[in-house]
Amino acid sequence: MSEKDYQFSYKTYLLSEANEKDKALIESAFQCRTNAYVPYSHFGVGAAILLDNGQIVLGNNQENAAYPSGLCAERTALFYAKANYPEAKIIKIAISGDHMEHPKGEITTPCGNCRQALLEYECTQGSPITVLCVSSKGKVLEIPSVKNLLPFCFDFFYD
Ligand code: THU
Repeated sequence: MSEKDYQFSYKTYLLSEANEKDKALIESAFQCRTNAYVPYSHFGVGAAILLDNGQIVLGNNQENAAYPSGLCAERTALFYAKANYPEAKIIKIAISGDHMEHPKGEITTPCGNCRQALLEYECTQGSPITVLCVSSKGKVLEIPSVKNLLPFCFDFFYD
C-alpha cells in the first residue's frame, strides 16, 4: 500500500491587483450576471470566456420551472463559444456568482457538471484553461487548470 499526495498551486488576490485584461474579463462576467434568469434560486452567476482569437463570450445561468432544464452560466458561455468559434482555444474563464437580493460576497466555483464540460475542451485543445473565480467583494481565486478541479478525472474521449 502506498499513500500519495495530490497538490496544486493556486493564487488568491484582490481584483485591484489583477492585470487590465483580467479586470475587463471579470467586469464582463459581473455585467452578464445581471441578466441571469433565476426566479427559483435567486442565485445569479455570470461567466466570461476569453478565446485565443481575442473574442470574449458571455453566459449566465438560465433556470426553468422544469428544474433540470436550466443551465449554469459556465456551460451557457462554454457551449456558445464552441458552437460559434469551434476552432478557437479557450484561454480563461471568469466566474462570479451570488444571491441576487442578499449577496454574501463569497467566491463561487464551478459545479461538478461544469468542471467536466470544461475539462473535455481543455483536454481536446491540449492547453490549460485558467479559471478565475471572483466575489462581488473583489476577491479573486485563480486556478491554473481545470484538471486541478477534478482529481482522477474521467478523460477518455473518443477519437
Ligand atoms: N450555478 C451556476 O450557474 N454555476 C455554478 O457554478 C454553480 C451553480 C447556478 C445553477 C442554478 O441556476 C443556481 O446557480 C443555483 O444553484
